[in-house]
Amino acid sequence: MQIEEFTLERIQSLYENLVEFNLSDSGVHPYSLKELLTPDQLLGLHEVELGYGWTNGGVELRDTIARLYQGRDHDNVMVTNGSAEANFILVMTLLEPGDELVLFVPNYLQIRGWAKALGVTVKEIVLREELGWLPDLDEVRAAVTPKTRMISLCNPNNPTGSLLPRETMDALVAIA
Ligand SMILES: Cc1ncc(COP(=O)(O)O)c(C=O)c1O
Repeated sequence: MQIEEFTLERIQSLYENLVEFNLSDSGVHPYSLKELLTPDQLLGLHEVELGYGWTNGGVELRDTIARLYQGRDHDNVMVTNGSAEANFILVMTLLEPGDELVLFVPNYLQIRGWAKALGVTVKEIVLREELGWLPDLDEVRAAVTPKTRMISLCNPNNPTGSLLPRETMDALVAIA
């Protein structure tokens, strides 16, 4: 399988932890465990056994996540190692060679790379500054065909930070 270079991650692997000033990250400054947890929770960490856990996420964690949504429980939640693993699982389970993927750029390009490696045709919708970095819905309609298996967008967008208004999301759902 030929996998295109994921240039963003490659540059980060090479330089991110070596430079004195990193001006290129999209994340906020990280919290420490001390800032996030109560003293009791911190003490509880000392007791954690480092054996095999649940590969799909512990039940307590999945229940806590499910409570963010109405009418859902742990069976509706799968915990992954970051969104990179979730993206990988999505591509490997939903896309087949010959399918088409409509993808908004600029974007974090992991899904594009995996899809191309699988033999999926990738159609890019270019977000433009004059539209507030939001998609031109006519371009999306024109890109979608009966072969379209996935429309991939990043909201809030990385790297522009644009946020899709509710009506744009509804329009995208209608197109899908
Ligand atoms: C849009 C987007 N998706 C996925 C990822 C990967 O996220 P994670 O570090 O949670 O695996 C990133 C990381 O920057 C991202 O910006």
